[in-house]
Amino acid sequence: MSADFYKTKISNCHVIAGNEIFTEIAGYFDNYSLNRTDIVILLDENTKKYCLDILKEKTDLFEHAKIIDINSGEANKTLDTASYIWDKLSDMAADRHTLMVNLGGGVICDLGAFVASVYKRGLKFINIPTTLMSQVDAGFGGKSAIDFNGIKNLLGLFSDPVFVFVYPPFLNSLNTRDFYSGFAEIIKYSVISDVIQPDDLINFDIHNKVYLNKLIFKSIGFKSSIVNLDLRENGLRKILNFGHTIGHAMESFSLINDKNYLTHGEAIAIGIICETYLSVKKSGFPESFMHLIASVILQYFPKYSIKPADFIQLLGFMKHDKKNLAGKIKFVLMKAPGIAVFDQDCNKEEIAEALNYYAGL
Ligand code: GLY
Repeated sequence: MSADFYKTKISNCHVIAGNEIFTEIAGYFDNYSLNRTDIVILLDENTKKYCLDILKEKTDLFEHAKIIDINSGEANKTLDTASYIWDKLSDMAADRHTLMVNLGGGVICDLGAFVASVYKRGLKFINIPTTLMSQVDAGFGGKSAIDFNGIKNLLGLFSDPVFVFVYPPFLNSLNTRDFYSGFAEIIKYSVISDVIQPDDLINFDIHNKVYLNKLIFKSIGFKSSIVNLDLRENGLRKILNFGHTIGHAMESFSLINDKNYLTHGEAIAIGIICETYLSVKKSGFPESFMHLIASVILQYFPKYSIKPADFIQLLGFMKHDKKNLAGKIKFVLMKAPGIAVFDQDCNKEEIAEALNYYAGL
């Protein structure tokens, strides 16, 4: 795998990653007859400050783009923010020829894709993910969503961007906390695939950009291979949700209870530990691997305090998980790295045991 460039396709969507992508962008605009004169860029205060100028320096395609900016953070992935963007699009007289560009992390990509897909029954859009989280996961794969009534991703639809452009140097502007948020998904790939190896986690070095690009490309390659086999998450794709049943509950819980709420990756890291614990208990996942994963996570992520009194609220959030069936909380558990068992029932005592395991680390 070259360290400079990686290209793949998910359904009809091209995903192009690397430090030299900008030499390719104009060609993609031409091949797909994308509008160069009516472009709206959705961004937040961070990508406005750190990424917009780079984008404009690298290509003149976005020189005259109109801008819609919103506040960063999961707390803004709401219907109110979506309404605000629809108002702006309407004021700008955006129509079906308008191309929307989502320049940002998971929130911008999820929300922007949702807004674009619904406005006038669908605008073409491209995602330019700028965080590690969105470059290895949220920025591609055709999911769009907003949170609703405090539940993560309650409203959303499957909808493909025309392209996804992944430019790893955007990561240079991330603070350490946001950077490691994305590392949680790379840790997840080490449990659910053999593409990321334990050595990749142990030797992880935030400063080794060549190595980081390789991890990003491997992650994109693995997720693409899964999504291409199960675009609508009828079965296999659920493996990508490993760690997310408890992780999303943690995230919703923290969003309500903490001023400085957990990042998506911090919440997912807790979910990975708990669901690895459940995998050991119920599916025979190797205990030694669980200890390795827990120690890597504790090295990079702050310990979050949860008490037994919080479990009821956390279970309440898990009841909204999209994988549930007939009111039962269903988990993806692992038998071994890369080998999943789907739709596993775990009762509340088992879930509480997993949460206690994390709390006691
Ligand atoms: N983030 C999980 C998925 O795209 O299916």
